[in-house]
Amino acid sequence: MTYRFPYNARILGTGSCLPEKVLTNQDLEKTLDTSDQWIRERTGIRERRIAAKGESSSTLGARAARQALSRAGVAVEEVELIIVCTSTPDVIYPSTACFVQRELGAANAAAFDISAVCSGFVFGLSIAEQYLKTGRYKTVLVIGAEVNSRLMDWTDRTTCILFGDGAGAVVLRREESEEPAGILSTHIFSDGNRADMLIVPGGIGKEPVSTQAVEDKLYTLKMDGQATFKVAVKRMVEASKEALACNGLTLEDLKVIVPHQANMRIIEAVADKLKVDISRTMVNLDRYGNTGGASIPIALNEAVENGMINPGDLVLLTVLGAGLTWGAGLIRW
Ligand code: UT7
Repeated sequence: MTYRFPYNARILGTGSCLPEKVLTNQDLEKTLDTSDQWIRERTGIRERRIAAKGESSSTLGARAARQALSRAGVAVEEVELIIVCTSTPDVIYPSTACFVQRELGAANAAAFDISAVCSGFVFGLSIAEQYLKTGRYKTVLVIGAEVNSRLMDWTDRTTCILFGDGAGAVVLRREESEEPAGILSTHIFSDGNRADMLIVPGGIGKEPVSTQAVEDKLYTLKMDGQATFKVAVKRMVEASKEALACNGLTLEDLKVIVPHQANMRIIEAVADKLKVDISRTMVNLDRYGNTGGASIPIALNEAVENGMINPGDLVLLTVLGAGLTWGAGLIRW
C-alpha cells in the first residue's frame, strides 16, 4: 500500500558524536576469557567507544544535534520537536529529550523520548515523518543516543564485547513538492512475545530498586544471541522488501543500505538475501560496535560524510532490536 501525504519530509543535515575513550578487543582480552580473533571473526568488531564520567545520552545527543543543525543551516529556535531515541536515558524522568532541549536552548520545541531500543531511530524517524508530512511541524530533530556501557555485565563475554556508546542526529524539514522525495516511507513492527530474548530485567515499575536486584545483575543486559541473530536476518530482509514494494521500487533501484550495526555476519546475510553487493552497505561496527538506537544515525552520518550517499540516491535503513522491534525506511536523498 502506498501512502500519500501533502508534504515531503527531507533530511537537511546529519551529525554524530562518539566518546573519545576507545576500548579495543585487546583491552577486553586482559579481563575476559575472550580473544581479538574470536570477536573479529564472529562479530566484525575491533573496538568500541566508552562514555567518560559526565557524558550521557543527553550530552552526546546534544553534540550530535548541534553538528546536524549546523550542517543543515537551521537555527535552534526553528526546531519544533525533539525526539530522542534511547534505551539508556540520563534518569528515569524527565526525558533525555528535555535535557537535550535545555542543552541546545531549543526553547520552541516539544521534546520527548521513545523506547524502541536498537530500532529506536527508525521508530523515531517514523514519528517525525508523520508530523512533517501531514504539515503539523516544519522542523524536527531526531536523535539516537546511547551509553550502552552502563548496562553491561563486564564479566559476561557473550554480551559486553558487542556494545558501545555514541549518538547520531538528523534535522528534518517539511517541504512542498510534486514528486515524493526525502523519507519515502517507514515501516515499523513489534513482537512482544519475544520480549525476553534481549532484555534488561531490572526496572522500577515491576520491582522496586533493591541491593539484591543489583547483586543479581538485573540492571545489566541479557541476550539470547543466536535466537536474536536468526530473527534479525529474517525480519530485516522482510521489512526492507516491504519498504521497496510500498514505493513501487526494486532492489536494483537501491544505492546504499545503512543497516543496524550489530554483527558483520548479520549485515552480510541481509545484503546477500537482498542481493546487494556488500560494497554498497555502510559498515562502521568495526570501530564502534553496536551503539543501539544510535547505530543507524551514526552510520548514516558517516555515509554522508564519506561521499557514499549523494543527492538523488535511494537509501535503505533496516534494523532489529529488543522488544522485539524491527523496521525499515526508504529515503530519496
Ligand atoms: O542489536 C540488537 C540485536 N542484537 C543482535 O543482533 C546480536 C545477535 N547475535 C550475535 O551477534 C551472535 O549470536 C553473538 C555474537 C552474540 C554470538 O555469536 P555466535 O556465533 O552465535 O556464538 P555462540 O553464542 O554460538 O557461541 C559459540 C561459542 C560458545 O562456546 P561453546 O559453547 O561452543 O564452547 C560460546 O561460549 O563461543 C563462545 N563465546 C565466546 N568465546 C570467546 C561466546 N562469546 C565469546 C567471546 N569470546 N566473547
